[in-house]
Amino acid sequence: MKQKSIPRITAHRGASGNAPENTIAAIELAANEGADWIEIDVNISSDGIPVLHHDDDLDRCTDGHGLVIESSMEELEQLDSGAWFSSRYRGERIATLDECLDVCESLDLSINLEIKPSSGWEIPTTDQIAEVLHRRHTLPDMVISSFSHIALLRAARQIEFIPRASLFLVAPPDWKTLTDEVSAINLHLHDNTLLTADAIDSYHRAGLGVYCYTVNTADDARELFAQGVDGVFSNYPGLLLDAGLG
Ligand code: G3P
Ligand code: MG
Repeated sequence: MKQKSIPRITAHRGASGNAPENTIAAIELAANEGADWIEIDVNISSDGIPVLHHDDDLDRCTDGHGLVIESSMEELEQLDSGAWFSSRYRGERIATLDECLDVCESLDLSINLEIKPSSGWEIPTTDQIAEVLHRRHTLPDMVISSFSHIALLRAARQIEFIPRASLFLVAPPDWKTLTDEVSAINLHLHDNTLLTADAIDSYHRAGLGVYCYTVNTADDARELFAQGVDGVFSNYPGLLLDAGLG
């Protein structure tokens, strides 16, 4: 698929500093704050519907309990996913991947879809996401990432038309093998002290873009860009864009 290059600022879980993460409200706010790309976390319900949710369980970001993977879509639809963040967002619902794609297409937002499977569910989760992406007639520009190498290998086979990014807390010694195995275009890494200018240079020489999470101040973003990082994921995309870092 044609790939617009990822800009320097991606809204992490939507504009999740100012709206409940991974909701339609957070995605709309990201667009309002000026972001061109959003990052979302995608898991599946017990009946295989891809939904936006970061944690395995429902407790932190909804008024429900238990595991996403053990909850049917009908059960997930009943939950409030906004009130935990602020009463202003009461009534927000868990978004399906389909709903997210509709909104992103209408707002001209591109997507870093992070596959966030519950342990042991890497392949079914990826396959259900693939089913949605294959069914749609058009798609925004996208990159697929995951901490799960199993999920990325599966995505490379089942959703081969969308580029991939390997996602790590810290790049492991075998980062080159792992990125080659999934034909990754990017490395997505946590902002940490091991991310030196030399390390970034070696990733670039291997042809990989380097994107860093989660960067919430203009000073931190400036420092990373000075080291050679290509882009950052931020809960406050508007703040970084207003600082002229876009
Ligand atoms: O994709 C970057 C970042 O979202 C990875 O960490 O835990 O926020 O999904 P997490
Ligand atoms: Mg994520």
